[in-house]
Amino acid sequence: MLNWNVRSTRSVKTHADEFQRVVKAYQETINSPEIGFFRLPENRELLKASQSAFEAMKHKKYFVHIGIGGSALGPDMLLKALGDESGVKFVFLNNIDPDAMSRSLEQVNLKEAVVYVVSKSGTTAETVAAMAIVLNQMEKCGITQEKYKDYLVFCTDPEKGDLRKLAHQWGVRTLDIPSNIGGRFSVLTPVGLFPALFAGIDAEELLEGAQDLQKHLYDSKIAENFFELGFWIKDLHDRGVNQTVMMPYSSLLKEYSAWFTQLWAESLGKEGKGLTPIPAYGATDQHSQMQLFMEGPVDKILFIIEVEKFNSDFEMKNAVDGDAFKLLAPFKLSQLMKAELEGTLTALAENKRHVVHLKIPSLKEQYLGQLILFSECLTVLLGKLLGIDPFNQPGVEAGKKYANAWLKSHG
Ligand code: PA5
Repeated sequence: MLNWNVRSTRSVKTHADEFQRVVKAYQETINSPEIGFFRLPENRELLKASQSAFEAMKHKKYFVHIGIGGSALGPDMLLKALGDESGVKFVFLNNIDPDAMSRSLEQVNLKEAVVYVVSKSGTTAETVAAMAIVLNQMEKCGITQEKYKDYLVFCTDPEKGDLRKLAHQWGVRTLDIPSNIGGRFSVLTPVGLFPALFAGIDAEELLEGAQDLQKHLYDSKIAENFFELGFWIKDLHDRGVNQTVMMPYSSLLKEYSAWFTQLWAESLGKEGKGLTPIPAYGATDQHSQMQLFMEGPVDKILFIIEVEKFNSDFEMKNAVDGDAFKLLAPFKLSQLMKAELEGTLTALAENKRHVVHLKIPSLKEQYLGQLILFSECLTVLLGKLLGIDPFNQPGVEAGKKYANAWLKSHG
């Protein structure tokens, strides 16, 4: 089971009334019908729908994923952490860089592809652009509108938006993003589940894991510890420790840091408040950002994730004549990772840095499911503590509005 442990010189005593007020506000939020992410692990209907779409399309050799932000970062994270790309080639069209688009499309044979268009709103310019380009390319391969249903799958709001309308018109299969779930909280909906099935990920186990965490948070002792973590982060935020480093000691969790970055930034950066997320991963960033984390300003909380047992390992046994080689010879690669992680934790403590040490037993579906729900719940808790709405993104909307105005005035 995922567990976490604060390592810091600073502890916080919260007034009981304040503690109860925040806990109540948080619980009301995650249990309210308007907010759906917390109950997703129990909802197997979305998985069933994803499985049935997968059955119809599983012969495809390419998976083209079109989407951006919360519609792309979750599936990317799942695939990089757990996916087995041996069967299907995945291509993510998640930006509007023409050169990158060209390079990505060169890798795909659209005649053998499923094109998965993910957009809650159905109107996001970057997603619409990529879709228009792919439809043009399909046309060139002889895939005309009456054949779209054999190639396209849409994932969108159950009722609203242009994608929903087009799906009706073209007879294209659709999967739902429930209306009470926003993009960055949607990885456990078909947004993540459908691609996960193509990548050989056990989506059932992923949901089971998230459900374990959900139950875990009902345990009063663990819940108290979770809420204390939230109050501790809020206290540091108010004292100017308002940057958060997410640093798993795992290459395969690098995109987990990227996913967390969006969740944390877009949910909590509002009204002059927020905790700037910094993606990192160990041990690589020990040779990059760690100098700053260790000796730079004391304005960061480091979330260090330890994977206790790796799925593979290597002996470092060798007969090379050199001290650095001799030092490593008795150990396995995973033990070097452990040594570097422990060394970093000790040095961070000596430098009076603020650390949350998270541990998962291994990188498996159930534990990633737990990490996902943990991060989502912590984000909502921080939203309550900071007094902001973690589910909207007015700053993003403002940029979109001006970009649209620019397009209209230049069109
Ligand atoms: O988390 C969010 O809500 C956003 O990042 C959206 O996912 C992103 O803007 C894409 O929106 P849509 O899914 O409507 O295309």
